[in-house]
Amino acid sequence: MNNKYFNKKIILSNYPVGLSKKDDFSVIAEEIDPLNDNDILIKTKYVGIDAALRLLLRDSDDFLFRVKKDDLIRGSIVGEVIESKNPKFSEGDYVLGSLGVQKYCVSTGEDIEKCDLSLANPELWLSGMGIPGLTAYFSLLDVCKPSPDKNVLITGAAGAVGSIAGQIAKLAGSKVIGTTSSDEKCKWLIEELGYDYAINYKNKDWFEKLSSVSDKRLDIIFDNTGGHVMDESLKIIGMKGIVLLCGSTSQYSENEIKGPNNYIWLGTMRARLQGFVIFDYEDRYEEARINLSKWLNEEKLKMPTHLVEGDIDKFPEIFEDLYKGKNYGKFVLKLKD
Ligand SMILES: NC(=O)c1ccc[n+]([C@@H]2O[C@H](COP(=O)([O-])OP(=O)(O)OC[C@H]3O[C@@H](n4cnc5c(N)ncnc54)[C@H](OP(=O)(O)O)[C@@H]3O)[C@@H](O)[C@H]2O)c1
Repeated sequence: MNNKYFNKKIILSNYPVGLSKKDDFSVIAEEIDPLNDNDILIKTKYVGIDAALRLLLRDSDDFLFRVKKDDLIRGSIVGEVIESKNPKFSEGDYVLGSLGVQKYCVSTGEDIEKCDLSLANPELWLSGMGIPGLTAYFSLLDVCKPSPDKNVLITGAAGAVGSIAGQIAKLAGSKVIGTTSSDEKCKWLIEELGYDYAINYKNKDWFEKLSSVSDKRLDIIFDNTGGHVMDESLKIIGMKGIVLLCGSTSQYSENEIKGPNNYIWLGTMRARLQGFVIFDYEDRYEEARINLSKWLNEEKLKMPTHLVEGDIDKFPEIFEDLYKGKNYGKFVLKLKD
């Protein structure tokens, strides 16, 4: 190993107020130290843009994995091993890990996993084969249990998790309704992903539309966004329904996080709010990936991956765009060689 590699990493320079801005981040460059025994040097190829990151950028110790000022921005990457002093990894292997937003990463091998490229292409390891796909798979199939007689609402339907969740609920035979922020995205959900209905939640009459297409009853609310869409939807939760708390994207940039007002319907309808964290399923990722890849190859499932090409310094702009809803599926920064 010599010092021919110079890293570029994104760090936090200010705690964002509201939506994050370019100035909240800085780029620093540094030389990479020689590898120690067991170390692996990875060249980042793809960076996943995660909505949950905004929650970690708050100036508060309330949430795990917080990013403080001057810390490396957290994020999942897929990269190629370019040097290895670890017998378990060879040059040319593709790996996945939560290694942060940077051009090169050094790992001891404990915090990464090899991408089996016979199952799916590298970039899909951040979307359908990565945390979004695994989250959709286990939270739906293990917890929500969709079936042909059920009406399923997916909020944040066109995002990384939502775009897979809706398709899995369709595979289970359910009637699937999605909410998203534009008519174009609604069209995409129906025409590309097979959603039965898609509703633009920015339209005034969105709730009337939702009530009419769901026959006034929702068995499963798969909630990625929280906020007023989830809150209003509780009014039409069905008997013994489930509200899966996957995420609360609408709240992550808010000073004060607000919960739903309409919880009273849960009591009346014997329904439940159910929390979920994907990391509880780590020992079953392989099983899910085999099934997800099988569906992909049989063309039963798409793994929407919204690739934008650029250097690592493009990250702040794309993160801002994620919160403006510009992504169709998983937003991924593909690093230029
Ligand atoms: N529980 C778990 O283990 C787990 C694992 C992974 C992710 N998650 C959670 O799942 C959720 C979705 O994550 P993701 O990675 O798939 O992100 P994503 O949905 O791909 O991206 C964020 C989307 O949120 C929507 N959005 C932005 N601001 C909003 C607002 N104010 N109100 C409503 N929607 C807004 C936008 O879509 P529109 O154009 O539709 O508005 C945007 O495209 C996040 O809350 C994340 O924390 C949970």
